[in-house]
Amino acid sequence: MATHRLLLLPGDGIGPEVMEEVKRILAIIEARGILSLSIDEGLVGGCAYDAHGVAISDADVEKAQAADTVLLGAVGGPKWDSVAYEHRPEAGLLRLRKDLELFANLRPAICYPALADSSALKRELVDGLDLMIVRELTGGVYFGEPKEITDLPNGQKRAVDTQVYETYEIERIAKVAFELARVRSGRVTSADKRNVMKSGLLWNQVVTATHKQGYEDVKLDHMLADALGMQLVRAPKQFDVIVTDNLFGDILSDVASMLTGSLGMLPSASLGAEDENGRRKALYEPVHGSAPDIAGKGVANPLAMIASLAMALKYSLGKPEVADLLDRAISQTLADGIRTGDIHSEGTTKVGTTDMGKAVAERFEKALTGA
Ligand code: NAD
Ligand code: IPM
Ligand code: MN
Repeated sequence: MATHRLLLLPGDGIGPEVMEEVKRILAIIEARGILSLSIDEGLVGGCAYDAHGVAISDADVEKAQAADTVLLGAVGGPKWDSVAYEHRPEAGLLRLRKDLELFANLRPAICYPALADSSALKRELVDGLDLMIVRELTGGVYFGEPKEITDLPNGQKRAVDTQVYETYEIERIAKVAFELARVRSGRVTSADKRNVMKSGLLWNQVVTATHKQGYEDVKLDHMLADALGMQLVRAPKQFDVIVTDNLFGDILSDVASMLTGSLGMLPSASLGAEDENGRRKALYEPVHGSAPDIAGKGVANPLAMIASLAMALKYSLGKPEVADLLDRAISQTLADGIRTGDIHSEGTTKVGTTDMGKAVAERFEKALTGA
């Protein structure tokens, strides 16, 4: 059996807490002989800054480059608020995304049946919701140059961020969205601001042109990103795959999380281009952050992190059937009335991070034995 190299980057705040629960699942996977894993750990974010004075060391970037799969917890926190911009915890994550060319960020938002009453929206609007936000991850205003704050002669300051997209960046993310739609409900909605942004205009044109290059079997719609935000909370089930740029994708995925019951539910996969052997670099992480308000209390919801491992099993580790069992273990845990505090729900048992992790692990083990 081939050995997969896994790099764990727990990060800051609740990152290490939720990563512990992934380790529990990984131990089961190894013990059962499902995969042979070589697991290494590294530092990213504020913890890396504290250890090395940078948000990620070159050595840890190299480890990530060499790994088959990277699993990341979360980065950031108030402790590093006054750190120089280029050394902020978030810079470590952005460097990983850029250096590994992880341009395709898949953020599924699924409302598990047991959580249809936990969403901020009415049950009928979210029950059965299963949408996929495809966020461009290595371009746009996150990385465009110049990016600076300069002093003006009048004593004021001027801040500039630059939104840049080139044709190839839009084309490759559009293809990812069309291909995903083919194995889902066959619909893509592309969101941009072509009414005010040149980059939005190019986005719209390139997505339309790419659609004509052999993807006409997929139904394509375009929506202005602000209107899409509104539609997401008015009638979210109209969407299947949403493809959008780096910043809109960031915001819209946090909005989508509340349709599912909690931000603590949303996993993500960040994928690079396929090489000649059909392999792609990949990093899996929850959509949520380091949650400084609850860090250290043992109450964080580990389900987004565990579901990120399920995505890794599906997209990188060649075990889609094990990924399904893990997803079902999550669904079963929720159906059994077990909840962490972030999930609004009456008449259910509220547990901490460890007990939620154990509950999923137990159900996963049972499913593996077919019991
Ligand atoms: P956040 O996602 O950390 O928290 C937002 C709210 O959701 C908080 O009330 C938090 O308690 C709650 N929450 C989030 N995840 C939860 C979980 N798993 N279980 C229970 N509750 C959960 O966003 P924020 O507070 O705006 O940002 C905090 C820090 O995290 C910032 O430094 C930010 O840059 C960083 N951040 C990192 C990532 C990442 O590492 N991928 C993502 C988003 C934010
Ligand atoms: C996310 C986060 C990151 C982003 C931050 C921490 C850099 O909010 O992954 O959603 O803005 O992409
Ligand atoms: Mn975000």
